[in-house]
Amino acid sequence: MLDQKTIEIIKSTVPVLEQHGEKITTRFYQLMFGNHPELLNVFNHANQKQGRQQKALAGTVYAAAMYIDNLGAILPVVKQIAQKHRSLGIKPEQYPIVGKHLLLAIKDVLGDAATDEIIDAWAQAYQVIADVFISVEAELYDETQNQQGGWEGFRNFIVDRKVVESEVITSFYLKPEDHKKIADFIPGQYISIKLEIAGEKFTHIRQYSLSDAPGKDYYRISVKREAGTENPDGMVSNYLHDGVNQGDILKVSAPAGDFMLDTEKNSPVVLLSGGVGLTPMMSMLKTVVEVQPERKVTFVQAAANGNVHALRDEVEEVSTLENVTSYFFYDSPTEEDRLNNRFDVEGYVTRDWLNEKIDTKDADFYFCGPVPFMKAINRSLKELGVNEEKIHFEFFGPMGNLEE
Ligand SMILES: Cc1cc2nc3c(=O)[nH]c(=O)nc-3n(C[C@H](O)[C@H](O)[C@H](O)COP(=O)(O)OP(=O)(O)OC[C@H]3O[C@@H](n4cnc5c(N)ncnc54)[C@H](O)[C@@H]3O)c2cc1C
Ligand code: HEM
Repeated sequence: MLDQKTIEIIKSTVPVLEQHGEKITTRFYQLMFGNHPELLNVFNHANQKQGRQQKALAGTVYAAAMYIDNLGAILPVVKQIAQKHRSLGIKPEQYPIVGKHLLLAIKDVLGDAATDEIIDAWAQAYQVIADVFISVEAELYDETQNQQGGWEGFRNFIVDRKVVESEVITSFYLKPEDHKKIADFIPGQYISIKLEIAGEKFTHIRQYSLSDAPGKDYYRISVKREAGTENPDGMVSNYLHDGVNQGDILKVSAPAGDFMLDTEKNSPVVLLSGGVGLTPMMSMLKTVVEVQPERKVTFVQAAANGNVHALRDEVEEVSTLENVTSYFFYDSPTEEDRLNNRFDVEGYVTRDWLNEKIDTKDADFYFCGPVPFMKAINRSLKELGVNEEKIHFEFFGPMGNLEE
């Protein structure tokens, strides 16, 4: 337990650290990767370059520090991050490395203002926060390994089938090399893929949501090729598209994540996606059809046009069912899309459209897509008076803030 004085020091210094937020976190990663280059095998280099991950890790330490005497309040956030950590294989012995370099960075940036007393208080606080993460993660490791079909770390899966779904999205059907059972998952969850690419110094790990319903003898992921326009092309997605074929082996960690369809509920469910954000929604849609055929489900997919629109056949097939309604939004339809009536609405999903077409009173909303899409949907739902508890979303990257 921390004493009152330490708690006071922590709380009074959080605003100062936040003020220097970016400087401290940039220095933190420089120092940590300098001393521990092996950690570049787990951290996403592109997120580092774009500064997305920097904000996430240190920002969470500061947020946690504000609740240092009531850490229960941030447990939901810890649980979410712990899922990602578990999926990546983060271990207790790595926590002191992060702690040490965070303190070094604070000292470096604040200079004389970082007195021994302040540094000591932060060392104690970090330990308390790290212990919470470590214990939540220990439980997750335990559950993951001991469930039926579960495993530790990364397991070899064979690419059983590779299916082109659109000009930019390709699915991979993955079966375990050992032909044994695979762990079950809840629709909305993801797996991590670890790639060793010839000529690359480090391994690269990325998350992919499972795009089919659970209960099969394979996992399916559907991957968008991330083409860089001014930046380099996406490392893993392009390698999967161009360098990975049927029969190849991929290293996969067991399903994780707390973006999950609640199948205990019977409320209408509305699944909204932009682009490749459709993957967790496909799993949810197919699950409702399979296990809750009486539950009302609305599937809304926004895409640029028919050329990049993936998995439409699978949606159309179930849209004939009485409980399923689907809408396709294209913001730049092609002539062919128009001729063949391949979309329902031209443009973006708007608040007015949601208000008109969706029963927003009782429904649960799940959404995923590019951040501007997610911000627009979130704002619309809030404006329509949808309760926070009924709004669920997933970021295809480090978690951010939809209210910003
Ligand atoms: C929970 C979760 C679920 C996900 N599910 C899916 C899914 O179902 N399907 C899917 O396709 N994706 C999914 N993703 C995204 C996926 O994990 C990858 O982020 C995505 O495939 C891109 O990875 P990449 O290695 O190809 O690109 P990266 O190499 O990671 O690059 C990402 C972006 O950064 C840019 N970039 C690269 N280097 C630099 C640089 N030096 N400077 C500036 N910019 C740079 C690239 O151009 C690219 O646009 C999910 C992510 C999460 C967190
Ligand atoms: C108390 C300490 C820690 C906190 C508060 C913390 C916080 C976070 C947060 C907020 C994220 C982003 C989650 C998301 O993607 O939505 C994250 C991801 C991650 N964390 Fe931690 N973390 C801590 C410790 C560690 C340690 C010890 C390691 C291993 C050295 C680690 C490695 C990672 C990696 C590799 C990612 C994913 C990075 C990426 O994809 O860019 N973290 N962490």
